[in-house]
Amino acid sequence: MGGHKGRQLASKWVKTEALLSHIDIAPHIPPTKRFTAENLRSMLDAHHMVVVKPVVGAGGHGVIKVTKRSRGSKSASGAESYAFTYYAQTKRFASFAALIGALNKKRKGRAYLIQKGIDLATVDGRPIDYRVKYVKTEKGWVYRAIVGRIAKPGLFVTNLCRGGTLVKSAFGISRSISPAEVAEKKSKMRELTVLSTGVLEKKYPGIGQLGFDYGIDKQGKIWIFEVNTRPQ
Ligand SMILES: Nc1ncnc2c1ncn2[C@@H]1O[C@H](COP(=O)(O)OP(=O)(O)O)[C@@H](O)[C@H]1O
Ligand SMILES: [Mg+2]
Repeated sequence: MGGHKGRQLASKWVKTEALLSHIDIAPHIPPTKRFTAENLRSMLDAHHMVVVKPVVGAGGHGVIKVTKRSRGSKSASGAESYAFTYYAQTKRFASFAALIGALNKKRKGRAYLIQKGIDLATVDGRPIDYRVKYVKTEKGWVYRAIVGRIAKPGLFVTNLCRGGTLVKSAFGISRSISPAEVAEKKSKMRELTVLSTGVLEKKYPGIGQLGFDYGIDKQGKIWIFEVNTRPQ
């Protein structure tokens, strides 16, 4: 806390809950629950692909994609199978119990979230998302940057420290969605940034720097993955 950079909030859960309280922001937050076996089961039933991540984390560390596949009703038991992807490695599981066992091994007792997996628009098959940096100055809040980050080939996380490539947001939106949508998507991300900052600052006075991670899915919908209070 404190310091010239402003107040810091580590918990992704706390920040997500704050944003969910605003009626115009909530539709842009992927459904999110605490990690429990029961919640994982229901989230996989509802969304088929989910991302599990540490409540307190950064740099894509510990972020795991989990998928469920149903093989149809013909086969008796064992109609479902599961897989998770951690960095470039995918593991498959024939039962939910085996999946949970492996996830708990990775979690090592840390608190995790489960989030609906967003099918991100891609550039050359690589998922892309966007970082909007917003900083408080004497003149009020100002944008420092809106940049695209393209995942390293084979990864689903776009974090730069995981080999992601930094690109101009206009280039990223043009290549992954359409050149015709650049202005609209950028202005929507700015609008969500202003709204979200208002909500967070009201609840947590003293925040001074925010880094928003936005995903745009293949249908063009904008999602907020997380808000960093200590953006790089
Ligand atoms: N719900 C999600 N659906 C799809 N991809 C996601 C989701 N959540 C995170 N990711 C991917 O993982 C990266 C890291 O997740 P993030 O929530 O930003 O945590 P970190 O604090 O580790 O950066 C994101 O930039 C994005 O590429
Ligand atoms: Mg992030």
